[in-house]
Amino acid sequence: MRTPFSHFLPLALLLSQTIAAGSSQLPADESATTAVVDHGDQLVSQSPLGETHQARPVSPQVENAWKTLRNAKITTVRTEKPTGLLGNALHYGRQAFRILFLNGPSPDKASRKVQPDVARAVEELKKAADEDADPDAMFLLAEMSFHGNFTYPRDFREAFHWYNDLAWLNGNTTAQYMVGFMYATGVGNAVERDQAKALMYHVFAAEGGNTRSEMTLGYRYHAGIGTPKDCDHALHYYKKVADKAIEYYRSGPPGGHTMGRDLYRWADDEGGAYGEGASVSSSGRNARDAAQSSEASLEDVLEFYDLLSRKGELKATFGLGKMNYDGARGLPRNFRLAMRYFKTVAKKYWNKDGSVNPNHQAGLDKLAAKAAGYIGLMYFRGEGVDQSFATALSWFKRGVVNGDALCQYEMGLMYLHGHGVPEDAFKAANYFKAAAEQDLPAAEIRLGALFLDQGDVATATRYFELAANWGAMEAFYYLAEMSNFGIGRQSHCGVAAAYYKIVAEQAELIHSSFEESNAAYEAGDKEGALIPAMMAAEQGYEHAQANVAHLLDEQRSLLSLSSILPWAQKTRSSLLRNAALALIYWTRSAKQANIDSLVKMGDYYLSGNGITVDADKASTCYHNAAEAHHSALAYWNLGWMYENGVAVDQDFYMAKRYYDLALETNREAYLPVKLSLLKLRVRGYWNRITNGDVNPIREDENQRPRRTFKEWITTFIENDAEEFYGDLYDQQAAEDEDFPGARPLESDSRHEDGYYDDLEFDLDEGMLEGLLIVALAAVLMVLVYMRQQQQRRNQAQNQNDNNANANQNDRGVFPRPDDPDFRQWVAGGVGH
Ligand SMILES: *[C@@H]1O[C@H](CO)[C@@H](O)[C@H](O)[C@H]1NC(C)=O
Ligand SMILES: *[C@@H]1O[C@H](CO)[C@@H](O)[C@H](O)[C@H]1NC(C)=O
Repeated sequence: MRTPFSHFLPLALLLSQTIAAGSSQLPADESATTAVVDHGDQLVSQSPLGETHQARPVSPQVENAWKTLRNAKITTVRTEKPTGLLGNALHYGRQAFRILFLNGPSPDKASRKVQPDVARAVEELKKAADEDADPDAMFLLAEMSFHGNFTYPRDFREAFHWYNDLAWLNGNTTAQYMVGFMYATGVGNAVERDQAKALMYHVFAAEGGNTRSEMTLGYRYHAGIGTPKDCDHALHYYKKVADKAIEYYRSGPPGGHTMGRDLYRWADDEGGAYGEGASVSSSGRNARDAAQSSEASLEDVLEFYDLLSRKGELKATFGLGKMNYDGARGLPRNFRLAMRYFKTVAKKYWNKDGSVNPNHQAGLDKLAAKAAGYIGLMYFRGEGVDQSFATALSWFKRGVVNGDALCQYEMGLMYLHGHGVPEDAFKAANYFKAAAEQDLPAAEIRLGALFLDQGDVATATRYFELAANWGAMEAFYYLAEMSNFGIGRQSHCGVAAAYYKIVAEQAELIHSSFEESNAAYEAGDKEGALIPAMMAAEQGYEHAQANVAHLLDEQRSLLSLSSILPWAQKTRSSLLRNAALALIYWTRSAKQANIDSLVKMGDYYLSGNGITVDADKASTCYHNAAEAHHSALAYWNLGWMYENGVAVDQDFYMAKRYYDLALETNREAYLPVKLSLLKLRVRGYWNRITNGDVNPIREDENQRPRRTFKEWITTFIENDAEEFYGDLYDQQAAEDEDFPGARPLESDSRHEDGYYDDLEFDLDEGMLEGLLIVALAAVLMVLVYMRQQQQRRNQAQNQNDNNANANQNDRGVFPRPDDPDFRQWVAGGVGH
């Protein structure tokens, strides 16, 4: 959707802002003489756009303040997570003391005492800022109150004040970006959330070349946040970031800068937003991936490799070298160690003079060539050793003899750029071709680029696409450029913007703050983690959006501690208690295809967490998650809604169907779903004997042939789950009654017999079993009752919250669905 108006929006906003600011602040100018109001004067005369930052000497006051701050003895590391036995004891002792005797919430950090040295420096800075409008002083004050550097207490209002003044004083793009960020998120209640103003400040900053703002704007136009969706604008901003990313990448050593990546979802460490097995990210098809990427297994792998390596298994030695070279989460890159491992492998194959050791292990040639490739690479790029083209070349030559792809590619690079050899594009192309035939993405990109130079667009595209399959950043860049400028194809804004977005997001290390937020998160400093994560989330990273929502999410489990222990809730600082913000980020993450977030979003609507209860919307979320993405949890939630008549007419038949679908979708959900089914049957039974008017569970085997559980489970085990679901009901008729493979399961599955049977207690089967089932049903009743109670309480509380908010400011923290501003933050909502 594009309106001509959208192009003029920033301009119009600028005008209105200038007029509003001028008219509201100018009259005050006559009565007051503070510097803040002086800026109001300047607002009218100078726009913050395109203002160049002239180099001015740092004033002596600021220099003094800096000196004081630097010399102040401050422990800057504040971790909330206790370490060591003593630390733990102290931490919990203090906690217990507070709970027992003080009986109140832990004090927010704002009430910390300011150190005298720091206080003095701040006084000095404030004087410089107020009297001389000194930009350095303002900037430092803003940073200190925003980040809480030098133990200065965090104060977002103060930070906003200084950033805003600085933004209008000299058009400092960092300050503009920060003001935009604060308007966009309303973080710390410094200002009321206002997406139009956020957009305006980000436009200023982006015009001044601020990469973070460019990225933020790209995402806002891409997703339609605070503005109508606009592909041209999204493309414009994403291209700017992508250009910078590629420029940085190419400015590195031969082969380009390493684009280290720090983005991951914190929730994934706990098996996803709903825990292991229940979340889509750790169940079904994703189950094994999640286990492989977890940190614990990295340690295991390292240990295992080390053991093998010591026993002389060279594959393990090489693996260790590669892991140390590439680095991983929780394993920083270590070039010296990597070199040692690689050389250990190479020495087993080559003698000192470069000749091949005649009695080397069988099959070592390929592995040794790979090791040679990495050794050469490190000399080529000067990693852990002094850069030396000659040494690199000698290693590459050894590897090329054995047909190693990496060596071929690096040789190609040497010839392409004339590093240590005469430049020869033809030779280069031959080497690249050999490596590309082994599907080495870097070589495919170079080869594609050479073909593009020759005008063979079709071949070039093929190679870029091959490399893009590997997620290679440069390949996406080429594809984006070709889509953008219509080279060899129709130019296509949507495709180009999506590709530029991928490039921009892969260059996270030049403009985002994942490292900072991860470090803070791992140290247990949740507030410290929240702010940088939120910045990355604003830039459009789905991972960061999920992280922020995860951090703000208070309902991680139904029986959370906080509902039993009244004080547990209060230990979260006010910054972290923001359900409305959590919902925003669940929504944005869901829009970027995170299914767990979509289900979470449904939960928030269902329980009225951070928004008024909207069961229809919740149902839409669950339906989308369930049907499009096979989320067992969503199916289960839908079953629950039908069972209890939330947002739909109570219907046990439908409830049963959804519970069954949940079971089909996710093997891990077996026990909870079976328990729910049991409870449902008890209710259905009650409904029947009391002649209730709820649509009962019925047998409808006419449409669906009866299928016993043992058949089901046997087929499940024997077939790949994927293809199994495809023809689930086609095959059944043909299947035999007797399944020889099912024998061992028979005794367990006695009571699961069939899908649509009514509850029948067969007491002859054994009293114990029947009693157990009754007991379980009773427990479930209690659980359901508790869940309903809690929900009611949540709703009531939410009502109160909403009322309180409505009193505070007339618009409330977030717009109502019928408010025109609604779209600003919910980004279109689901299914509308
Ligand atoms: C913003 O102002 C501060 C303080 O004067 C300065 O250090 C910083 O480099 C400025 N940023 C930009 C992008 O001009
Ligand atoms: C204050 O702390 C933040 C976050 O740790 C950091 O990015 C910033 O550079 C620090 N500012 C100063 C002036 O030390």
